[in-house]
Amino acid sequence: MMIAVKIAQFNTWYGRQPVLQDININFQANAITAIIGPSGCGKTTLLRSINRTAEMEKAFSCQGDIQVLGKSIYNIKQVAAVRRQVGMVYQTPVALPLSIQENILFGPKYYGVKERSRQKEIVENCLCKVALWEEVKDRLKQPAGKLSGGQKQRLAIARVLAVEPQVLLLDEPCSSLDPASTGLIEELLTGLAGELCVIIVTHNLFQACRIAQETVLLLDGQVVESGPTATIFSSPGDVRTRGFIGGQFG
Ligand SMILES: Nc1ncnc2c1ncn2[C@@H]1O[C@H](COP(=O)(O)OP(=O)(O)OP(=O)(O)O)[C@@H](O)[C@H]1O
Ligand SMILES: [Mg+2]
Repeated sequence: MMIAVKIAQFNTWYGRQPVLQDININFQANAITAIIGPSGCGKTTLLRSINRTAEMEKAFSCQGDIQVLGKSIYNIKQVAAVRRQVGMVYQTPVALPLSIQENILFGPKYYGVKERSRQKEIVENCLCKVALWEEVKDRLKQPAGKLSGGQKQRLAIARVLAVEPQVLLLDEPCSSLDPASTGLIEELLTGLAGELCVIIVTHNLFQACRIAQETVLLLDGQVVESGPTATIFSSPGDVRTRGFIGGQFG
């Protein structure tokens, strides 16, 4: 198994308040890993540390290292390159106030894709990947704001895919969606895991069971347990994992 993201002795603070403590964990390429844990345990902070957006908070500081595909992302100056390589999708589906196709082309244009035919290709390819093409192919120039929540969330994923990331981070991407839209997103993530490393924070343990090969439990800023999802849920090694899963499932 290839490792896509390697986190070593990683600690973070907001001001003097420690959040993540001594995180040591590897995320596999070509797999879905679910991060679970109670509210406030540091899941979002962990995700945002992997694409260096956590530091946009003024009070944030960190120590230790994170490697993406064998290269440190903290001992370098090109932060923009990291954010391109590691894309992130948020809880609330957000469409840029642009047309559907300009939402997809926002990143590629920024990075210099000028050729019309190439742009068309990117739009169709990315919309197909998120199973949105058939639904929107006749209204690509209409405002993306008119799409439903579930469609907006698939568009948000397509927008990230358009710049060809190697790691896809998703922070509770389905929490505001209905079961049908959630099903579509789960299906598309399963397909995407064939080509990139997918890390998803979810409050829905059933979702973790359905789609994640690996699961990580975070409590109070620390990794309590990580491993194959089936093992974590059927025979956890740590009494705290049993407690958390029992409380959420039972
Ligand atoms: N910008 C910030 N400034 C100060 N403290 C923060 C900031 N962002 C988060 N925190 C604190 O850091 C801790 C971890 O927050 P984080 O958002 O990572 O948790 P989470 O596991 O994602 O929670 P949730 O499940 O509610 O989204 C919390 O105690 C939170 O209050
Ligand atoms: Mg969060």
